[in-house]
Amino acid sequence: MSEILLKVSNLVKTYPGLHPVQALRGVSFEVSKGEIFGLLGPNGAGKTTTVGIATTRVIPTSGDITVDSVDVIKNPQEAKMLMGVVTQFNTLDRSLNVKENLYFHCKYFGYSSKMAKQRSDELLELFQLTDKSKAKPIALSGGLAQRVQLARAIAHYPKILFLDEPTAGLDPQSRLALWQVVKILKSQGVTIILTTHYMEEADSLCDRLAIVDHGKILQLDTPQNLKSSLGATTFLDLKFVDNVEDKISKIETIDEVTEVEKLTDRYRVFVTDPKSITLVIEAAVSMGLKDLSIIEPTLETVFIKLTGRELRD
Ligand SMILES: Nc1ncnc2c1ncn2[C@@H]1O[C@H](COP(=O)(O)OP(=O)(O)O)[C@@H](O)[C@H]1O
Ligand SMILES: [Mg+2]
Repeated sequence: MSEILLKVSNLVKTYPGLHPVQALRGVSFEVSKGEIFGLLGPNGAGKTTTVGIATTRVIPTSGDITVDSVDVIKNPQEAKMLMGVVTQFNTLDRSLNVKENLYFHCKYFGYSSKMAKQRSDELLELFQLTDKSKAKPIALSGGLAQRVQLARAIAHYPKILFLDEPTAGLDPQSRLALWQVVKILKSQGVTIILTTHYMEEADSLCDRLAIVDHGKILQLDTPQNLKSSLGATTFLDLKFVDNVEDKISKIETIDEVTEVEKLTDRYRVFVTDPKSITLVIEAAVSMGLKDLSIIEPTLETVFIKLTGRELRD
């Protein structure tokens, strides 16, 4: 049996106010030691709120959460020692340089001055930041700042690391570099909870993930199982010149077509055998085809299937 490191049970969070916001409506999941677990969902889904509760920053309305069997709500101080956090926004201390940011974090977590200095040097090396050690956060690119935040987050050897949208707003190259670091941390046995609205990120990094929307988990599985749950190997997105509502059954009845879904401006055809693609296209052309795209199942298609909406803003 794998060891459960994070246990989230029925979390509910309503932000009070004139117009209360139900950010979480009963979220439950468990994360095993060594796993990279993802929360994938659009803006406003409740990802940051979940991470906020797990990291003691937000008090839930109800529900339970434990990290390594420590009750996060009852024993926040003890729980904090077990975790590292990289928040969505840069929280580096602007008045300190890169090395000092690492050093004072270590001190905060109880290191002696000597040990804190040693650990800071080690982290600078590990994250290839040595030549930036004297730089102030303001002078760093987004990618570098994220790397420093990550170095700081793992400085005290947390058992579990929370990364809230770690690559949001980064250029593709910095994003790939950060993925590399995340993979290295995983190989060292760190358990990671990652939130993202990038499906490629969730797909390439996560062992398992929960698709979240409006404060609820819609589906939870490995990326591979989520994609195969669609029951199709290929999708054809078809746009027509005219309204084809009365003719679409022509496509629905083709062998190996398991489903035809009507989206806002197009039809999505689920095909289980690529050989049927030509048949679908022939039928579509005879109905006045305007535009066609052939897509492989992705987590985006899973999200659309679950919500009828696209993941992107
Ligand atoms: N401090 C807050 N006060 C009021 N509403 C909030 C607060 N933080 C988040 N919300 C709302 O809660 C919902 C979930 O937000 P959030 O957890 O930040 O989602 P995500 O990280 O997935 O974008 C959103 O509707 C958001 O506007
Ligand atoms: Mg967020």
